[in-house]
Amino acid sequence: MTDTKKSPQGEWSSHSAFIMAATGSAVGLGNIWKFPYITGENGGGAFVLVYLLCVALIGIPIMMSETLMGRRGRHNPVTTMESLTAEAKADEHWHYLGWMGIIAGILILSYYSVIAGWASAYVLKAFTGSFFDADAAAVKQLFADFIASPVQLAFWHTAFMLATMWIVKQGVNNGLEKALRWLMPSLFVLLILLVGYAMTTPSYFQGLHFLFTPDFSKLTGNSILTAMGQAFFSLGIGMGAVMVYGAYLPKKISITETVVVVSIADTVVALLSGIIIFPIVFSNGLQPDSGPGLIFETLPIAFGSMIGGWLFGILFFVMLVLAALSSSVALIEPAVAWLIETRGFNREKASLYAGSVTWLIGFASIFSFNSWSGFKIFGQTLFELLDYVTANLMLPIGGFAIAMFAGWIMVRGHSEQELDLPNPLTYQIWQLLIKYLAPAAVFLVFLDVVGVL
Ligand code: PFF
Repeated sequence: MTDTKKSPQGEWSSHSAFIMAATGSAVGLGNIWKFPYITGENGGGAFVLVYLLCVALIGIPIMMSETLMGRRGRHNPVTTMESLTAEAKADEHWHYLGWMGIIAGILILSYYSVIAGWASAYVLKAFTGSFFDADAAAVKQLFADFIASPVQLAFWHTAFMLATMWIVKQGVNNGLEKALRWLMPSLFVLLILLVGYAMTTPSYFQGLHFLFTPDFSKLTGNSILTAMGQAFFSLGIGMGAVMVYGAYLPKKISITETVVVVSIADTVVALLSGIIIFPIVFSNGLQPDSGPGLIFETLPIAFGSMIGGWLFGILFFVMLVLAALSSSVALIEPAVAWLIETRGFNREKASLYAGSVTWLIGFASIFSFNSWSGFKIFGQTLFELLDYVTANLMLPIGGFAIAMFAGWIMVRGHSEQELDLPNPLTYQIWQLLIKYLAPAAVFLVFLDVVGVL
């Protein structure tokens, strides 16, 4: 593998293009939809603290490893793992790591698209004035009626998957790059405006208190696992998406700098959305642990009562859908790159195949919110099970394996060269985190959940 080798899929056009694409992959429903509702379900402050620690100590070093492995391998996760394994003369079974990433991406996207479909439907609801002057009960009813309809969920899920497939067909650096350039800053500005609204609600400080005052009695083994899983999910690591994006990264760009910038942006967006949601929850006598519908049952109250709420409501849900799109293309890209590079498909056919499979699996989640809501495996609906298996198990296991590979298997000189850190000490700190701390932390959390600790 020489230094000048490029990915067959092309490269990002510039440093900022890669930062935008990686931020686009990281920032999505995970930050705005998932972070608040799982924080609500897991008791607030202590959960948030564990989440932040996981991002800093496990997430960032693993994201650096995943990017550098991708840039070195320059292909889809399976081919990349095969070439890295050959280069390091390691056991060939490592390529299963690439497989797990491809499968995790498809499984996550299958339900991600259903939720993105909810957000798309809410663009229309905002537009037609459904939230106007609506109180908490009306907004809750609106949501309950909506998810009770498999036909509506299927319609919006289909629309979202078609949009994803259409963008993926264009390739990594067409269209998406340009759209992200204005999307991310605008989303940020809108969130700040909504924080302004949250500050005017009577329970603003109660919301902040819930989010930032840790009560460790609320932490269980499972909530620690959920916090760790969320760090992986939100950064978009552990499943090969970052590996493929790294494959499109030109040699001269600093991996460390990029990863730190993306992680900070991702974390700030998640925290902002918590700062917006919880004051609305408490000010309207709602429960923080009401589950996946949380943002759909709270934000419309704000849009229905604030000045300019009609416009802000539309803008917010449009941006949420676009942020979800920039993540969904990352979720499917490992599978698409694999189909192109090893099966000789063109981009169009690859996105059609991978997208259709994902679309079909999505119906399991659609029905779990209505017709099959009573069907449970290990006490979980199909949607909950898919989310648990992917975010809480597959991503951390993938991350663990990435850390082990980058720390113990990869030729030291190669990781050193890819990271190109300013001094030997920073490289040693990274090595320490990746060889010992990150794998040990993931392992201990698993032990805790299975009850060994
Ligand atoms: N990080 C995305 C989010 O927070 O919404 C979800 C995601 C994207 C997960 C890409 C995994 C991934 F590879």
